[in-house]
Amino acid sequence: MGLDSFDRVPLLFGPSPVHRLDRLSEHLGGKVEIWAKREDCNSGLAYGGNKVRKLEYLAAEALETGCDTLVSIGGVQSNHTRQVAAVAARLGLGCVLVQEHWVDWPDAAYDKVGNILLSRIMGAEVRLDPGGFDIGIRPSWEEALASVEERGGKPYAIPAGASDHPLGGLGFARWADEVAEQERELDVFFDTIVVCAVTGSTHAGMIAGFAAQEQPRRILGIDGSATVEQTRAQIARIASQTADAIDLGRELHDDEIVLLDEWHAGTYGIPDERTIEAIRLCARLEGMLTDPVYEGKSMAALIDLVSSGRIEPSSRVLYGVRWSSDWTRAMERVKDLSWGVRFGALEEEAPTRFELVYGALQAPA
Ligand SMILES: Cc1ncc(COP(=O)(O)O)c(C=O)c1O
Repeated sequence: MGLDSFDRVPLLFGPSPVHRLDRLSEHLGGKVEIWAKREDCNSGLAYGGNKVRKLEYLAAEALETGCDTLVSIGGVQSNHTRQVAAVAARLGLGCVLVQEHWVDWPDAAYDKVGNILLSRIMGAEVRLDPGGFDIGIRPSWEEALASVEERGGKPYAIPAGASDHPLGGLGFARWADEVAEQERELDVFFDTIVVCAVTGSTHAGMIAGFAAQEQPRRILGIDGSATVEQTRAQIARIASQTADAIDLGRELHDDEIVLLDEWHAGTYGIPDERTIEAIRLCARLEGMLTDPVYEGKSMAALIDLVSSGRIEPSSRVLYGVRWSSDWTRAMERVKDLSWGVRFGALEEEAPTRFELVYGALQAPA
């Protein structure tokens, strides 16, 4: 069948920008050339991000099958559910989102600001659920699907991260083709790709997409949730299903699935000192913002891998950046004042999660 045989609703501006990170490359010794590909600038839909790219394929199927409501699931501050809400709004569909308690983040405004606020503004029906972190299929999501049917609607089911779905890997298989096209235009070749992995289909789609190209390259997934075995199994499953869908014509080898587990900070959603240091270094050298949940962790990995020589001198690395409104979490207090709305005081206990993470980032240069 091949990738082109799948229908796709265009939701992106076009190819996402690719550019060099000269000052970061120089800072890390100047022997490895580091570039970024910016999914944080890929679409006008609620700040874009990697899920919009995946949703181009799932939304096409939702429309073809006459569904009227997108139903999905994620953490309270999920970037994914914000992007589902945006796509639903753009296509005139309803949207039901189950938001689980994926991160132990007790601050009082946590379920009122950031992504969840944006989803509400875009008209999504948000249902809070006490379930903890899990990238698998959840009863609460199945109940949400059933409730749409009970009221006479036709739901379209989108799992966490739009990942564990037959079409979940296609968006990033297409990303691989887009990279190859940009390489031709720029006359460069990226031998190494660094990508943060949590629900898995971003990494999995890249593995399948790049496997279909002539020149081999290394795709390093950086685990962001400390559930390494479950994530690796999910990546392997989605990669091989995507490889079949795009007619790769061979099985993927085990060594094509590389998920490194040294930078997840022990849990999903909370950074450690290395994450925070990496966010700060990248921001101060490049003016490029990474977030404490995902790309801060893969940036810490990139920095360590280059500094230690595990990514060898003379490599050319493409680092995948996605958008996370996690930073809006840091604006809880600002919003509280400037909007004149009291969402409730932040937890009184000291130190709060807020102070631990965002307090550390206040340190001057
Ligand atoms: C900003 C950001 N980066 C990286 C990821 C990881 O992508 P995936 O869930 O496809 O593994 C996500 C979503 O989980 C994300 O929102």
